[in-house]
Amino acid sequence: MGTGQSATARANANIAFIKYWGNRDDRLRLPANSSLSMNLDGLHTVTTVTWDAALSEDSLTLNGQVETGAKLERVRRHLDAIRHRLGLDAHASVVSTNNFPTGAGIASSASSFAALTVAAVAAAGAQLSERELTTLARLGSGSAARSVPSGFVVWHAADRHEDSYAESIAGPDHWDLVDVIAVVSYQHKEVGSTAGHTSAHTSELQATRVEHAPQRLAECKAALLERNFDAFAEIVERDSNLMHAVMMTSRPPLFYWHPVSLDIMTQVRRWRADGLPVCYTLDAGPNVHCICTAAAADEVIARLKAMSGVDEVRAARPGGPAVVLS
Ligand code: DP6
Repeated sequence: MGTGQSATARANANIAFIKYWGNRDDRLRLPANSSLSMNLDGLHTVTTVTWDAALSEDSLTLNGQVETGAKLERVRRHLDAIRHRLGLDAHASVVSTNNFPTGAGIASSASSFAALTVAAVAAAGAQLSERELTTLARLGSGSAARSVPSGFVVWHAADRHEDSYAESIAGPDHWDLVDVIAVVSYQHKEVGSTAGHTSAHTSELQATRVEHAPQRLAECKAALLERNFDAFAEIVERDSNLMHAVMMTSRPPLFYWHPVSLDIMTQVRRWRADGLPVCYTLDAGPNVHCICTAAAADEVIARLKAMSGVDEVRAARPGGPAVVLS
């Protein structure tokens, strides 16, 4: 291939309704259980990859800043996997921007590694199936597999690399849900997801959580396809609570909630009991993702903004797939 082949891709963040927590193989990021998520429209990463035989090493510029430490190393390892798959030996320059602030409680690894994978493959001029793009993205960050396909997505757990892929189960127009994110902290989490996954098995609860995950996923998928909000809300909250029960009982214990996170969860359940279609889910951080119908979104936003301890409220609708921009 010639020098300086470049491509730009954009991928949305996603929020999991059935969570990924713990791997059966940490190196290959083969998850302990299948998960289900919704892409978040408008919360995205745009990444340009340039393969250039003249470069002596890979480089990463993130939100305008040249990175040299652990972030570059993780990207470099992912580029190694892509080089291996495509039979390349050139180095790459990677320039990436998130349109949401890092540390605003919106996981950036999913959109980042999805955009990186799609841009790197396109820049090499290779044509891979969406399914294979999801497996490649998974090697960089598990949840990135779910940011490649469109809308509502299931990522399948499996024992082999090629079998653990993600696929869309419904497009973004299937159900006009909104993720209203209550930002309660901008602090960077002390224990990131990657470290958390490796300690999930130290909780006695993880085996049970994993054992019943297929049943929860089936229930969640059915509620989603039927647009049955009450059934959906119950399973989404239960799955989030189960993951946090595992986190809190791992060794060392991981407490991602803050007191205000618990306040919001309590209020959300009350609001739903009073007829407002909203439920909560939390990832590896204290910010609360309040999932509601589009009709309820203004009310949910107003109520969250009125709560003390809520620094900021952001809203996102179901998003499309990762796309090549140029
Ligand atoms: C709690 O995909 O961020 O958000 O594979 O190590 O990058 P790595 O982990 P990551 O884990 C996401 C965990 C979660 C739940 C979820 O999104 O399913």
